Amino acid sequence: MNFEFTEEQIAVKEAARELAQTDLLPGVIERDEKQEFPKEQIKKMGELGFMGMMVDPKYNGGGMDTVSYVLAMEEISKVDASCSVSMSVNNSLVCWGLEKYGTEEQKEKYLKPLAAGEIIGAFALSEPEAGSDATSQRTTAEDKGDYYLLNGTKNWITNGNSASVYIVIAQTDPEKKHRGINAIIVEKGQEGFTIGPKENKLGIRGSDTHSLMFSDVKVPKENRIGEDGFGFKFAMQVLNGGRIGIASQALGIASGALELSLAYAKERKAFGKPIADHQAIQFKLSKMATEIEAARLLVIQAALKKDSKQDFVKEAAMAKLFASQVAMDATVEAVQIHGGYGYVKEFHVERLMRDAKITQIYEGTSEIQNIVIARELLK
Ligand code: CAA
Ligand code: FAD
Repeated sequence: MNFEFTEEQIAVKEAARELAQTDLLPGVIERDEKQEFPKEQIKKMGELGFMGMMVDPKYNGGGMDTVSYVLAMEEISKVDASCSVSMSVNNSLVCWGLEKYGTEEQKEKYLKPLAAGEIIGAFALSEPEAGSDATSQRTTAEDKGDYYLLNGTKNWITNGNSASVYIVIAQTDPEKKHRGINAIIVEKGQEGFTIGPKENKLGIRGSDTHSLMFSDVKVPKENRIGEDGFGFKFAMQVLNGGRIGIASQALGIASGALELSLAYAKERKAFGKPIADHQAIQFKLSKMATEIEAARLLVIQAALKKDSKQDFVKEAAMAKLFASQVAMDATVEAVQIHGGYGYVKEFHVERLMRDAKITQIYEGTSEIQNIVIARELLK
């Protein structure tokens, strides 16, 4: 495996870092406190090409590889994981899925504005009673000839109120179980489609998490993605790539915590010397850095496999499983290194610790990643 990044990949990373420091950092504490969706920040990310990074330029995308995408995700997540989760959903789940499996009409109508960052997309698989057990879909898309009649509720949907386009997974033929599930594109504002209140969360508080309710929503047949019954496979395929995105989000949260801890440890004095001179602090920093580096290698490995069109299911799950644990551990240590200052908002690390937790839950919990990895090993 070649770990030399190209000049273009390094330039993308630097551009993302610049954006994060200049446009995302100011106000990040207040947005978290007020649970404010980072609308202007995401608009800027769209203008700079971060919302459709891997999409072919003919559909308004950046035409970049997955490695560039994860490098950008890491930099943005170091500063604001509420921004990077929108970026991850839009890039990995919505744009990638539409580009890979959508019709030309769907790409013209939906992918182009999504990749340009003019509108935001959402991906709706989870339900009140079907999260990890994603094949047990209760939402139905009844086949009515030239349209589907959509009924049911989706839970925890990222970009839930800010999106214009939703990819909704629903059961059409229960007898066929997961092979009777479809993925259909629903537009905001369609009759019978309502959005619940924003969830009040532990972390990624700026992110827009909502339930979606569908009551006799008519969706034209041409909005189905792929063949009849392809919906569950579609969801799994996009989630394979999505898990690389969330792994890089976790990596960014962890490395953001390390950067802050290194700076603080050199500056803060106790017992007549910087706390960085105390071996107990050095060992914390060394453990954080080593684990972050290992997580980075797993993330890059998964991205390289995806870019070279190799099977990457196991590698993506491993990267997410490991990087999310590293994010949790590193952020807890970052708070410890900051002492009392770590426990208050101004020093950022308490937010990183709260944000880290979600990376072990969404896009498949750590337990589900273990199941995916074990199944791949035992194949
Ligand atoms: N890639 C491709 N196909 C996959 C797959 C994968 N990773 N995992 C399962 N499949 C396929 C299987 O091959 C099977 O297909 P066939 O029967 O046609 O061969 C089909 O899917 C069903 O798989 P299983 O029989 O293994 O089903 P299961 O019920 O035992 O387990 C599961 C499935 C792996 C647990 C799956 O339900 C799962 O991944 N659950 C987690 C759901 C999840 O990740 N949700 C994330 C929501 S989006 C989100 O969270 C976004 C965000 O936060 C920002
Ligand atoms: P459950 O599936 O009920 O799991 C509860 C516990 O049981 C977990 O620890 C789980 O690991 C464990 N468990 C379950 N099954 C097994 C098993 N077989 N073996 C061992 N342990 C098991 N979903 C979307 O579709 N789109 C989104 O945009 C989206 N964004 C989200 C944003 C946020 C902030 C949150 C909190 C969630 C989001 N989700 C989204 C939903 C997320 O993917 C689910 O919460 C997640 O998949 C877990 O499902 P659940 O909450 O129903 O937990």
